[in-house]
Amino acid sequence: MTAATADKEHHTEDSIPGPGEEGMVMPERRDLHFLPPRERIQDWHARGAHMTQFMNTLSLFFPAGERMFIDALRAYRDQIPDPDLKKAATAFIGQEAMHSREHIEYNKLMDEAGLPAEKLDAFVWSLLDFIKERTPKSMPLNATIALEHFTALMGGFILDHPEVLEGSQEDYRRMWEWHAMEEVEHKAVCFDVWEKCIGRGPTAYLQRAFGMGIATAVFWPLVVAFYFQMVSQSEACRKEGWRGHLTVLNTLLGKPGVLRRQIPEWLEYLKYSFHPWQQNNSHHIAHLSELAEEAEEAYQQALADSKGHHQHTHH
Ligand SMILES: [Fe+2]
Ligand SMILES: [Fe+2]
Repeated sequence: MTAATADKEHHTEDSIPGPGEEGMVMPERRDLHFLPPRERIQDWHARGAHMTQFMNTLSLFFPAGERMFIDALRAYRDQIPDPDLKKAATAFIGQEAMHSREHIEYNKLMDEAGLPAEKLDAFVWSLLDFIKERTPKSMPLNATIALEHFTALMGGFILDHPEVLEGSQEDYRRMWEWHAMEEVEHKAVCFDVWEKCIGRGPTAYLQRAFGMGIATAVFWPLVVAFYFQMVSQSEACRKEGWRGHLTVLNTLLGKPGVLRRQIPEWLEYLKYSFHPWQQNNSHHIAHLSELAEEAEEAYQQALADSKGHHQHTHH
């Protein structure tokens, strides 16, 4: 039995197990580099300095978070019965490793600009180390599928509403779009591993629902706390003034309502028969190769420019 037919049997009522004939999206590792300009780290977002810090705050969670995702999946890789899913798990690990590498570079720019990135990043590491070391083996995977649901929703929203990043500095925009697309592409991998290795019955469901409760209660308050710490150290935010907070609030809860409009999809996770591809937005993956080409070109250009600067031949 393939992963596709297994999913079809289980997710009966209104489910779409996944796009395509096979019913499974096979992610692909793309080794992309981004060199966003360091001088724009405090104000790269078109909606201003506070919105920049909101997105920068999200970036702080990736190095430690994606490391936990990778370790959580590795812990179960040998138990994955399905060769296709095993292959997808390897690709997932590859993708998250690339994201993490690029976000580490990105986060370094924040430190150089005097933002407290290193301190906040260290806090996330210690929190997730606690989960890895002190909770049952299934807990990191449980946290991963909950947080992967957040990244898939966030990524999907950014792609559905390009106005969220429109007009922002191109390299930052491209990096976030790349991450968003790959989060959509691999959104079901950990969930499928969970179902194959932990199960699909009432106990697994209760665990998963509990995991989502914890993830929500811990993650979003941390985002808010980190955001305020970042803003308080940002010269650009001081210049922009307190109204910048209103821009962030409006973007998240007003128009387009990045968080507000995700609430129904967030709640679908609590359905007994939930599967990530029931929220079918695989059309976004179609743009990945185009974006990858753009990114590669921009990276080569940025490299050439920085070499030029070093040799004082470029103005
Ligand atoms: Fe990622
Ligand atoms: Fe992910």
